Amino acid sequence: MSAHAIGRDDYVDFCAAVRRVCGIDLLQYKRNQMERRIRSFMTTRGATDLTAYAALLGREATELDAFLDRVTINVSQLWRNPEQWDVLEQRILPDLAETGAGRVRAWSAGSSYGAEAYTVAACCARAVPRAQVSILGTDIDKRMVERARRGVFTAEDARDAPPHALARHFDFTDGAWHAREELKRMVRFEVGDLLRVDPRAAAFDLVLCRNTVIYFTEDVRDDLHGRLAKAIRPGGRLIVGATERVADPAAHGLEPESPFVYRKAA
Ligand SMILES: C[S@@+](CC[C@H](N)C(=O)[O-])C[C@H]1O[C@@H](n2cnc3c(N)ncnc32)[C@H](O)[C@@H]1O
Repeated sequence: MSAHAIGRDDYVDFCAAVRRVCGIDLLQYKRNQMERRIRSFMTTRGATDLTAYAALLGREATELDAFLDRVTINVSQLWRNPEQWDVLEQRILPDLAETGAGRVRAWSAGSSYGAEAYTVAACCARAVPRAQVSILGTDIDKRMVERARRGVFTAEDARDAPPHALARHFDFTDGAWHAREELKRMVRFEVGDLLRVDPRAAAFDLVLCRNTVIYFTEDVRDDLHGRLAKAIRPGGRLIVGATERVADPAAHGLEPESPFVYRKAA
């Protein structure tokens, strides 16, 4: 008899098992798409039910790696959504450096393998070359954090990067783009779970949280936007993904400035 037939929810049990194995709480993510993704992936791996698959994840680190690759969706790229970076470079960074006494403290929340954080670093080098810049990238997936620290990107990662900026801030060796030292000095990466983080108030001038909350339930997303807003100093900015919105910006002291930029009220 299946777990469904006897009234138990095998998906909830599976999520509890995953949380024990790697600390990720899948119940905070939209169930429909997450469950569908997990069940179809499980089938391609030869497992027939979630209970057996949870046991496999607990036993085999390589299977857990493959599973996390599937569920956390680490897709990123340098200069992803180029129109956002033009606004950042031309308008926002000069304003932040001026109102922040020559300092720019940025946080790439859900940084994956670092493409976003290195793009911020390159934009800072171009837009505010004299500013004191520090960029923190955090992600729940420690393999992505390790990759981010290396600062190496494929040609595919660089497909939308402006050629002149790429050539100035990255070296192309062994078929890949390597971030130059001047960028590496600005960035640092840490493992962090956005569902649990409670950052210090006004710790950042700029927070980017792009293409990460789409997987969360609406309540979890709104709560996260509130905590991110708290972490931004008055006059600082929150940047969300090109197709994303903050549901109730005023509730978090945010003013919409352009479709994907929010300014923290003074
Ligand atoms: C699609 S990538 C976005 C990367 C980058 N922000 C961009 O827009 O290109 C989403 C990232 O969010 C991370 N993520 C998912 N849940 C998370 C959580 N609870 N805490 C921190 N990072 C999380 C994933 O591991 C993944 O690397």
